[in-house]
Amino acid sequence: MTGIAREAFARRFLMCPPSYFAVEYSINPWMDPHRPVDRALAEGQWEALRATLTGLGHRVDLVEPVPGLPDMVFAANGATVIGDRALIASFRHTQRAPEAAAYEKWFRDRGFAQVPGAAHMNEGQGDHLALAGLILAGTGFRTQPASLQETETYFGRPVVALELVDPRLYHLDTALAVLDDEQIMYWPGGFSAHSRHRLATLFPSAVQVQERDAQLLALNAVSDGRHVLLPVAATELAERLTGLGFEPVGVDMSEYAKAGGGPKCCALELLPGTPAPPG
Ligand code: ARG
Repeated sequence: MTGIAREAFARRFLMCPPSYFAVEYSINPWMDPHRPVDRALAEGQWEALRATLTGLGHRVDLVEPVPGLPDMVFAANGATVIGDRALIASFRHTQRAPEAAAYEKWFRDRGFAQVPGAAHMNEGQGDHLALAGLILAGTGFRTQPASLQETETYFGRPVVALELVDPRLYHLDTALAVLDDEQIMYWPGGFSAHSRHRLATLFPSAVQVQERDAQLLALNAVSDGRHVLLPVAATELAERLTGLGFEPVGVDMSEYAKAGGGPKCCALELLPGTPAPPG
């Protein structure tokens, strides 16, 4: 143990019930429409994730799922949200494009001052993680470099471009996780040499994760500063986090891994300052 007392901060998340979740097309190497999703198991895993978040004292809001949009359960991709500003995603694949309108409506109905849609391809919090006054942005597979200027201007925060290179780790939140406002964990092999250098300079004491764990989607983790929800199979990483004073909480998201997702993909984090829904 390091003796560091990690402090948990109450968070708000937006989740989308998995009513229509399925693997019906393939837009990343995990997805094989011939490998069926166990629907009952998927429901149970999603409910368990929600119960774990609320059990830790976090608030979980829900967006209504839309029939015909099987990936909408991955709420993290719907927008990038900081305070009262949400930038709605612009999806790379036509199969997911209509999700943007559903997320836009949710934010509009909650009284968000502005809910523009991104002008360039931009997959929301799947590729944008905020900490320490910065926004880390993943490019290479989904979010286009051309969108980063828009994100920087809209949120008024510097955006650090990080190029992803492993097709199985196609969103930033599959190769890197934010642990608290200053600390991250990542698998260096998921990034180009230039981006690895950038990360090493910005976060010299980051937790560097093994390839084996990264390939289990272990980096698709949700942290509240103390508890780190991560796929249950990532036992080695869980042990390391315990040694650093964090409390790992394993969640089984096996059905979502069939679509290339894990706990973080299913929970869009609404950062402090986000207006509360009415009622
Ligand atoms: N099947 C979805 C896709 O390929 C999975 C999205 C996972 N979300 C995430 N934040 N990594 O778009």
